[in-house]
Formats: sequence, structure tokens, C-alpha cells
Amino acid sequence: MKEAIMTVRSHNPASAGLPDSGPLRQEVIQQMMMARTRIYQLFQQTPLEELESPLPVRVFLKREDLSPIHSYKWRGAYNAMAQLPEEAKVRGVVAASAGNHAQGVAASARRLGIIARVYMPGCAPMTKRRAVEALGGDLVEIRIVGDTYDDAASASKKDAAESGRLLVHPYDDVRVVGGQGTLADEIVTQSPGVRYDVAFLQIGGGGMAAASALWLKTVYPDIRIVGVECEGQASMGAALEAGEPVSLSTVDSFCDGTCVKRAGDIGFTLLNELLDEHLVVTREDVCHAIGYLWETKRLLPEPAGALGFAGLLRRAETEKGNKALAVITGANLDLSNLALIANQASGAGSAESQPDTEAAKGDASSQSDGEDWSAAAAC
Ligand SMILES: Cc1ncc(COP(=O)(O)O)c(C=O)c1O
Repeated sequence: MKEAIMTVRSHNPASAGLPDSGPLRQEVIQQMMMARTRIYQLFQQTPLEELESPLPVRVFLKREDLSPIHSYKWRGAYNAMAQLPEEAKVRGVVAASAGNHAQGVAASARRLGIIARVYMPGCAPMTKRRAVEALGGDLVEIRIVGDTYDDAASASKKDAAESGRLLVHPYDDVRVVGGQGTLADEIVTQSPGVRYDVAFLQIGGGGMAAASALWLKTVYPDIRIVGVECEGQASMGAALEAGEPVSLSTVDSFCDGTCVKRAGDIGFTLLNELLDEHLVVTREDVCHAIGYLWETKRLLPEPAGALGFAGLLRRAETEKGNKALAVITGANLDLSNLALIANQASGAGSAESQPDTEAAKGDASSQSDGEDWSAAAAC
């Protein structure tokens, strides 16, 4: 198994043009508090479960895969769309997404009676495209543009400028970020008396991790927050090193939900201060995490949905005896990718036998070749 790569977090000051973190923190928390009063009009809370496993660490999983859209993305989309001014609701909204945010927008559009135009890259998983169609019905128009999330994002910005419709951004909107934070709020209320030692949070644009880290650190001041990204798409890692969000020249899309070329401004500003550690895991780690969850719990997350847990598995030995949180953020997985994931998972060894120690370092050649992976990659 390939070694997990560690990046030391940078403490460079945020460069000009980024939001000021003090007021931003307050705004996110305020949005999160208000989101509590709105979002349950759409869907209900998701469960928090302790994983029964032979791991030396106690693992608590927030089951966002069990939401009606199989990811947490309804929280932010609904929180943002529900508070739009009436005239903006009438005009409609635009959004760009590799799939999960699009489902959140579609479900919210249906519930609020708002028309939405959603831009998705041509290679977004069919599971996600069909779900958007089914959720949005006549209210949602899907436009397929380009090959990556960034292509879809550019098209959605152009549309918003031309049509005057408001853009519901998947992570650079404080209403969306605050909405995502409700999952951390639920964790706190669902486990009274439990004091967590560490949380492993996956990062795409950084909205979910930023809001969750902010709230978890507010409630549990001693908790350590580990941000987790997958190799080939570590845009937050690059931002932390550069001291500001920078664009990766290429981005790997195996974890299609977190495949973002440039970290979000809000996510970066908050995570630059809130992350105790940033961890980059391999695709093999992610496949192994999916395999592990299937074996222990019959839970089948999508790659981005398993990313935080993949980081946790890497640290199972070093976190021995501790209480660790991971969020299963999504389960919108194309069936066609399962064979490759299963293949890689079975070849990856077990977390107990391959922890993040010297003994675990080594055989990079066991990684599947690029061609196989690009076939499995969703966009
Ligand atoms: C399944 C899943 N996990 C994690 C993320 C990352 O979220 P964020 O962009 O808020 O970092 C996404 C984003 O779409 C996702 O779909």
C-alpha cells in the first residue's frame, strides 16, 4: 500500500481579497443557527452511529448517506434558497455541481417552487444525473457542459451574470456553508456527554469541513480536526502551502464529489486557522475504506463520502483508545465503478495491518494503473 502523504499546515496570513476570518466565523455560526429553523422543513436529521469493529479507536459515523438524497448537500442548498428574496425566487436560480449539490438544489427547488438551471460536467455519474432529474421534475433544467466541475462552474457564473438569476454556489456562499454546519450541530446534540478527541473531515471546496470544524471546536475546544483530501486533487493542501487558494493544473476525479481545482475562499480562510492537520490519502486508502465499511456495516459510500473515514483508518493505531468522528458524506456511487473499487479494496490489505507507521510504508507498485482509474473516474 502506498504511504499516506502528510502535509504540514501553513500559517501564512490570508492574502488580500479573502474574507476576514473573525466576521466570517460569526456569520457562519449565525447562518448555522438560523438553518436549524429552516432546513428540517425539507428533510430530517441523519443518524450518528458508533461503528462496532476491531479497530483500536472508537469510531463515530455521521450517516449523511442515509439522507433522502444520500449526501449532506441538501442542508446548504435549502438554507440558501429558502432565504432568497421573493423576486429572486421568482426569477429562479442557477448552480453548478458534479452531482450532489445539484441534488440538494433540485430537492430544494421542488420544495420551494423555485425554477433552477443546473450545470453539470458531461462525466458526472449517471446515478447523480438521474437523481437530479427525478428530484427536480419540471422545475429543474440540467445543462451538461465540459468535462470537469470547473467547466460547469464557469458556465453557471456566465448564466447568472446574463440572466440575473442568483447563483447557489456549492461552497463559497456563507448561507450554504452555514447550512452544511447543521450536520455538526446534530452530532453534538445526538451524543450528549461524549467528548470527541479527533474528527476526520473530507474537503472538496471546504465548506462542509470549515463549518463542521468551526462548530466542533466551539463545543469541544480540545478536539483535533484533521482535513482529508485524496491524492491528485488536494487543492486545499496546495492552498495551505501557498497561503491562499491556488489552481491545480490537473485534478484527479476518482473522488468525483471532492474534485475541485481551487479550494474555496471561505473554506480556506476558516480551515487555515481551524485545521490541526492536513492529510492526503491515496485512492487505495479510499477503496479500502469503502471495502471496510461494506464488510463491517454493509454501508456503501461513494469515494468522496468515504474520504474522512479513509484518513481515520490510516490513523487507527495512533488514535488508539480515542473517540474519533468521521462523516460519511455521500453514497451516490455508479454501479459501474464498484468492480474497480472492490478490486482495489481487496488488494489494499487491512487498516489494522497497514496503519500509518513505518511498517505501512512501501509498495507503490500495487496501485492500479492510470488507465483503469481514469475509466472508473466519474469526471
Ligand atoms: C460526497 C461529498 N463529500 C464531500 C464533499 C465536499 O464538500 P465541500 O465542497 O463542502 O468541501 C462533496 C461535495 O460535493 C461531496 O459530494
